[in-house]
Amino acid sequence: MRATILGSAAGGAFPQWNCGCPGCSNVRAGAPGWTARTQDSLALGADGERFVLVNASPDILVQIARTSWLHPRSPRHSPIAAIVLTNGDLDHVLGLFSLRESWPLAIYATASVWRGLEESLFLRTLRRFPEQLAARRLVLGEEVELADAKGSPLGVHARPFALPGKLPVHLVGHGAASPEDNVGLGLRGERGPRIAYAAACATVDEAVRKELASHDVVLFDGTFYREDELVRLGLSRSVAKDMAHVPIDGPTGSLAQLEGLPGRRIYTHVNNTNPILGPTEERRRVEAAGWEVACDGMAALA
Ligand code: MLT
Ligand code: MN
Ligand code: ZN
Repeated sequence: MRATILGSAAGGAFPQWNCGCPGCSNVRAGAPGWTARTQDSLALGADGERFVLVNASPDILVQIARTSWLHPRSPRHSPIAAIVLTNGDLDHVLGLFSLRESWPLAIYATASVWRGLEESLFLRTLRRFPEQLAARRLVLGEEVELADAKGSPLGVHARPFALPGKLPVHLVGHGAASPEDNVGLGLRGERGPRIAYAAACATVDEAVRKELASHDVVLFDGTFYREDELVRLGLSRSVAKDMAHVPIDGPTGSLAQLEGLPGRRIYTHVNNTNPILGPTEERRRVEAAGWEVACDGMAALA
């Protein structure tokens, strides 16, 4: 199985259109060591022909355009066969609606993520004909072999696991919260290494740690370096906890809580305010602890 990080930034991307924080300003100015990033998405494939996306970023068209193996092989075709959604956040689902030009897709999501999507009338644009959208349900703890819209297996297995999270911002107060609002994924081919994808995680407890430790490569929530990062910069009154993202720093942060995790560890879904995006003290600290910082195009599995 091959796995490539198509997008490594959190919602808003890097730089974010309306943000003049130090990181966004540095990347706009072309400062050395600061690299632009698109919003979080991962592509996986086992047969070199058909690919699975984990999440559909608002930047999906740019991500496809710059990735040659995601280009059409014939006049009306896409190698993208299936999409797995780990939550219903807009930075993970808006890309679906850019894929509306009548290409059959299988979409996998938990019941609660499907409920949120079904409330959007836009979903009808992916149902222009009956075979266009194969809607498949993920259940916590149950591994499935992913298949294309016709049901032909893709050689990629996905198992959703529990991760503390929350409802998408636009649905908070609209529906009841569920443990299936946000999940992690264990991903594997028929053989070979296993990847854990956990791009949104509110706290790291023993169960989360144990789950991640059973994988060879871990892609983990690198949204914020500090709990009060947005407050310090005067950008928001919300701290990381309010947004259900465990920060990297601090005694309950992911760096301390995941210390000694075996295997390769990569921070992804990195918010534009996070200092690890540049050549900073914070970046050196996470790298010294054995973490990599995802960038667009990075091979998670070559
Ligand atoms: C998140 O990762 O918490 C969300 O993308 C936030 C948002 O929807 O703005
Ligand atoms: Mn997000
Ligand atoms: Zn910014």
